[in-house]
Amino acid sequence: MSLLLTGGAVFADGAFRNMDIAIDQGRIVSVSLPREDVSVIELHDRLIVPGFVDVHVHLREPGFSYKETVFSGTAAAAAGGYTAVCAMPNLKPVPDSLDHLQAQLDLIRKNANVHVYPYGAITCGEQGQALSDMAAMAPYVAGFSDDGKGVQSDSMMRAAMELAKSLDKPIVAHCEDERLLPKGWAVHDGAFAKAHGLVGNPSESEWRQVERDITLVRETGCRYHVCHISTKESVALIRAAKAEGLPVTCETGPHYLVLTDEDLLDEGRFRMNPPIRSAADRDALVEGLLDGTIDCIATDHAPHSAQEKAGGLSSSLNGIVGLECAFPILYTQLVEPGIVPLSTVLNALCVNPRNIFGLPGGTITDGAPADLTVIDLNRPHVIDSGSFRSLGRATPFDGWGVSCAVAMTICGGKIVYHDLNTQEDAL
Ligand code: DOR
Repeated sequence: MSLLLTGGAVFADGAFRNMDIAIDQGRIVSVSLPREDVSVIELHDRLIVPGFVDVHVHLREPGFSYKETVFSGTAAAAAGGYTAVCAMPNLKPVPDSLDHLQAQLDLIRKNANVHVYPYGAITCGEQGQALSDMAAMAPYVAGFSDDGKGVQSDSMMRAAMELAKSLDKPIVAHCEDERLLPKGWAVHDGAFAKAHGLVGNPSESEWRQVERDITLVRETGCRYHVCHISTKESVALIRAAKAEGLPVTCETGPHYLVLTDEDLLDEGRFRMNPPIRSAADRDALVEGLLDGTIDCIATDHAPHSAQEKAGGLSSSLNGIVGLECAFPILYTQLVEPGIVPLSTVLNALCVNPRNIFGLPGGTITDGAPADLTVIDLNRPHVIDSGSFRSLGRATPFDGWGVSCAVAMTICGGKIVYHDLNTQEDAL
């Protein structure tokens, strides 16, 4: 069945234009389709944008299907407007060889609702002791990451960058220098930690490793993407590396752009790694997004069971879910008040991630893959984690009012999610 999306405002080259989009056999086509074979969807001025891409998602399979599965995680992605996600390798088995990766690829082929591009691990078992079989995995992965852990050894990271460079794949780094981290940290090492007698995670534990890695990028020429940056120092280091012409990119999450440690409650849904930091850090991250230092907004969707998140700030596992509320939060908190232009948010969600990782899509033109997201900017609602498709429920944004919603997600020409919400919209 072919589709015709009519009456929508299409995001192309940073601006919106009113035009119809015809979809046939998974692609956008400019030819007019014979009306009798076409399902026509009237969009009533809603926005049509290239499908969002989240380059930092934990789908938890194989190994931890009680937290999330490829099916539930990608259903959550579809509901959040994502047509592609990059899946992190802290799994069981860790994808550190082609054999181990195969288990994950099989699950993705069978169960994914949107495109999934896995990362291979940098080191065997993410243990930091020996390089994974990066060469064998390279054709099947978006890049290499030991996310969840920093690579502690300088020489190991140098060797990883040399090999990744020869394979033309990026290193995607979780930056965390364990020597600078006190045992039992729960929150950012700032005002909240002091006031509540909690052990603090210092900013330095992140940015010192960003700093080390930038030196290694200078030596090796490897493409290097920094995960979930949370500190003002990381922003400054990456800004300077870009100005120097180094192949460095980065992401941050909606929670780091919107919250500060003054917003914390003693609940597991406020605990993640890195932690939410100070207002000065949040402001620097917004500044970095505005000036292009920060390329991507990625949620670090990291589901855990209710029990694993029931220990408050001090004893819950690190990780929050993000896929199903990222866009409404970003729009309501950053775009509507005039802090960040909508085009900047959209570029960080759907254009830059594809450019960095060489993923298909990102333009709405004849012949492009029909991976599209329809947004309703006028759809006030309250975020209710109880209604999430994800098996994870922990989000600091539960109960927040937002003004907009994802109305439809089309992946490979198929409607993978829709919630158009009016009688006349009935499909
Ligand atoms: O909060 C986090 N959760 N940060 C990470 O780096 C890992 C992730 C997880 O896998 O749960």
